Amino acid sequence: MKLLISNIKTLVQVENEPRKWVAGSDMAHLNCIDDAYLLIEDERISDFGKMEDMPEFDGVEEYDATGRMVFPSFCDSHTHLVYAGSRELEYTDKIKGLSYEEIAKRGGGILNSAMRMHEATKGELYDSALERIHEIISMGTGAVEIKSGYGLTVQDELKMLRVIKKLKETTPLTIKSSFLGAHAVPAEYKGRQGEYVNLVINEMIPMVAAENLADYIDVFCDKGFFTVEETDRILNAGMKYGLRAKIHANELDYSGGIQVGVKYNALSVDHLEYVGDAEINALKGSATMPTVLPGAAFFLNMPCSPVRKMMDAGLPLALASDFNPGSSPSGNMKLVMSLACINYKMLPQEAINATTINSAYAMGVEDELGSIAKGKIANVFITKEIPSVEYMPYAYGSNLVDLVILKGKVL
Ligand code: NIG
Ligand code: FE
Repeated sequence: MKLLISNIKTLVQVENEPRKWVAGSDMAHLNCIDDAYLLIEDERISDFGKMEDMPEFDGVEEYDATGRMVFPSFCDSHTHLVYAGSRELEYTDKIKGLSYEEIAKRGGGILNSAMRMHEATKGELYDSALERIHEIISMGTGAVEIKSGYGLTVQDELKMLRVIKKLKETTPLTIKSSFLGAHAVPAEYKGRQGEYVNLVINEMIPMVAAENLADYIDVFCDKGFFTVEETDRILNAGMKYGLRAKIHANELDYSGGIQVGVKYNALSVDHLEYVGDAEINALKGSATMPTVLPGAAFFLNMPCSPVRKMMDAGLPLALASDFNPGSSPSGNMKLVMSLACINYKMLPQEAINATTINSAYAMGVEDELGSIAKGKIANVFITKEIPSVEYMPYAYGSNLVDLVILKGKVL
């Protein structure tokens, strides 16, 4: 099947020579073609260019996009969107002044979600995650990484990962899964954290690998959660099973998480509220994508990650939603861009690079997604009529996605 999108006002994020990521000052540059066409054959992009250069195409279904723009779908490289229940009572506690760590200490937070995860059936988890997936698709996301980490027992971690596997098989999104057994220490292991780490290493990782349930391995390496030494042991064990690291780091302190992530050639280190020169130096020259989660920092009222300092040092930067019930109950990547522009002073072009090509890299799909390039999978959205590219993050409360195409199919 051939689908031609013609008269596109602006075709955004085009690449003739596909790149792995965009870094430093290049992030302020976005390749676009005005008055463009895009040809999709089956599930892939086969051609694009200026309308005036468009050849005659036979047997195409045509969609006239006059006044509208075409973007590559967002890649959301960090979410926890399989979960049971919601945590708005903690939201009220937060409003009253309790910190994320205080809520966690009182048995709220991740442990609260773990209790509900234990009670939920696979079917319930699948249905609620599917609703969230339909919502993020309608807001322009075309690829998403989903973590386990609300199970915290062998059986419940496997349950979560099996649900993610079913979502991979049954939805049009491109999905990557990460095993996050070391998300929090379950209540029954209180005071015996080392034993829980042993359980993650000796039982969970081998079983996850045996069923091929995860693409990556994650650890919450931060103050009050898992130490650098524990993270090192877990990542080392994961590596032996072919699970590349992709970790939570430096959200609550200068935890050493970034350095241990880089040591294991992590695909990404995420959160990064606490980043100084040592962390930047560790990231320089590495293959690890620094990833910032503006929705979580907004929701928890946390300091902003020093993104300008990282980009000035020549680093690339990705943005993701962190969609989860505790610290970021939204998977709206367009809002993530707006928050990045307003709170972190990122330029709209930087935010678009960070939510497309760079976040594609951060979930290992940059060869297939994240830009408009010949041969890549046709995950794109057509906007409503908008005046400029900058209008996307500017109009922060409007869903400007008009039509979604995933794997070449109009949804
Ligand atoms: O990325 N920081 C650690 N984990 C999640 C929060 C999960 C939760 O509170 O349920 C996050 O923000
Ligand atoms: Fe997270």
